[in-house]
Amino acid sequence: MKYPYQIQNLDQYYSDYQKSIENPDEFWGSIAEHFEWHETWNSVVHSDFLTAKTIWFEGAKLNITENCLDRHLEERGNQPAIVFEPNDPNKPSQTLTYQELYDRVAEFSTVLTNIGIQKSDRVCIYMGMIPELAIAVLACARIGAIHSVIFGGFSAQSIADRVIDAQASCIITCDGAYRGNKEIPLKPVVDQALKLCDTVSEVVVFKHTGTTVNMTKGRDLWWHEQVNEIIEVGIPWEEPERVDAEDPLFILYTSGSTGKPKGVVHSTAGYMVWANYTFVNVFQYQPKQVHFCTADIGWITGHTYILYGPLSAGATTLMFEGIPTWPDAGRFWDICQKHSVDILYTAPTAIRSLMVFGDEPLKNKDLRHLKVLGTVGEPINEEAWHWYDDKVGKNNAPIVDTWWQTETGGIMISNLAGITPSKPSFATLPLPGIFPVLMDENGKILEGNSVSGNLCIAKPWPGMIRTTFGDHQRCIDTYFSAYKGYYFTGDGCLRDEDGLYRITGRVDDVLNVSGHRIGTAEVENAINMNPLVVESAVVGFSHDIKGQGIYAYVILNKEIADEEMASNLRIQILRTVSEVIGPIAKPDKIQFVTGLPKTRSGKIMRRILRKIAEGELNSLGDTSTLLDPSVVESIKLSRM
Ligand code: PRX
Repeated sequence: MKYPYQIQNLDQYYSDYQKSIENPDEFWGSIAEHFEWHETWNSVVHSDFLTAKTIWFEGAKLNITENCLDRHLEERGNQPAIVFEPNDPNKPSQTLTYQELYDRVAEFSTVLTNIGIQKSDRVCIYMGMIPELAIAVLACARIGAIHSVIFGGFSAQSIADRVIDAQASCIITCDGAYRGNKEIPLKPVVDQALKLCDTVSEVVVFKHTGTTVNMTKGRDLWWHEQVNEIIEVGIPWEEPERVDAEDPLFILYTSGSTGKPKGVVHSTAGYMVWANYTFVNVFQYQPKQVHFCTADIGWITGHTYILYGPLSAGATTLMFEGIPTWPDAGRFWDICQKHSVDILYTAPTAIRSLMVFGDEPLKNKDLRHLKVLGTVGEPINEEAWHWYDDKVGKNNAPIVDTWWQTETGGIMISNLAGITPSKPSFATLPLPGIFPVLMDENGKILEGNSVSGNLCIAKPWPGMIRTTFGDHQRCIDTYFSAYKGYYFTGDGCLRDEDGLYRITGRVDDVLNVSGHRIGTAEVENAINMNPLVVESAVVGFSHDIKGQGIYAYVILNKEIADEEMASNLRIQILRTVSEVIGPIAKPDKIQFVTGLPKTRSGKIMRRILRKIAEGELNSLGDTSTLLDPSVVESIKLSRM
């Protein structure tokens, strides 16, 4: 497959960028012609940022899976679409060719139709990183159902919150999943979640680990039995649903600075074009290359750069079930060698966790195939960048530092591998179509170079968020209100003397822990659910591996007699957080305090708590406006 819109050199980058900004209709219209449509569009883009209404490819009809599967069959039906590397290196890897993936998706989409799932119904998917997860996602898209993948580390309560918000009628899950030396139960967590919500009438269960699970009659169905019925009875496969360009493709829940996670809604056509365009250009994908994105499909990176980007481009995408450090810290390198991986796309936190093991795990690993390296999810520190460049890429594989968000659908600011310049810890330049603007606190645009401000985007792009599910006002309030007429990212950013962009981190109360977005309010709500807790305040602090760690200040309703009691209470609070959100939100440090620094109006002064968490005890700034300044001294004394 050729990509006529793949940028070939620096001059073309500049000229394409110019065209995309000056005439987006012509630019994106000509790119969209390279996809399969049932009906073409009447207009390319209409957008109003004040009401957060954006329409791309109005009037067009398509099915994204025909772009990801059907259109590749003739030319590359026998080429691997998905290479699956299981958790256990002693088990065989598995390959699904485009033809096989097409067959599996067609079968399973017929299963979904048979059990009554229709266009626009919401289907939650709670599975491990196995090919059936990809099949389930694509099968939903094939019948026009809206998928909402829930990361396998989330708790029953988190699943229930998402199911209720999405009003989902079906959950697809598996018995369990493997993660390193652990077996993680999934179906039992779904059972627990379904006690907390009542919209789900069908649960489809894929048998993966073979562990015994309870099957509720009339509700729970085995995946293999349903598929076998289609095959044995010879039920004809369903035709793919022709959906409107703007019909929602999926909902993905993500944390913000307030309230419960919100359901970010992505459309079908715009998202598809953006996923494909960014994949082909940023990684400079060449036919037959193997692309290994180490993210989980429970996050946006997995959606866009394991599934929709690579598959729409006819690429070979590698799915890995396990973790980078099991059975040893050479696991990624073994996979790269075994499958001759060309492109490796991972998170700075993974790089830092592997750096700790030194060079030993890389010894005798043949990484000559690696041509492009990528990072995503959080700022990458220079030390990690150089280690990645020296030890993994042998200074011979460009690193793309890709900045983007769940809401942006795909990569927004990044160098293009080998085409545009890279600079350690800089995302560098915007992709065509992306118009970044830096603002000061008062909404004044910061012109020129060598400036820092809040990062906004001034123009619509195809992959942008369309709404927050069930609550459009929340979308307007969260993203389009801080700076009228602009999309506000929530990130701080520097534009250096050469006009290159460096993301400096969140400017709101959102933490980035190991590349996962976690709202401080969400963690506080979870901690406060423990009956012993009166109040809590959560902030981030610098963490060598995770980027940011979670530091919780907690007021209890009882006195702590000794250290043993304190440590038992900490365990109880960690358990509560695991139950309410999931283990990823567990605080690294819990400090019991008797009061929190509050202003006279009752607002917690997080600035002070952040400084104490960082150990910057002598630069707390003015504390005289606090209701009770002595609180600060006592917190400083018992710092963890
Ligand atoms: O703060 C930015 C950080 O991750 C946030 C988005 O998180 P999420 O929606 O979970 O998506 C992660 C994967 C796209 C951003 O607001 N972030 C993401 N990529 C980078 C980054 N920070 C610095 N550099 C990056 N390359």
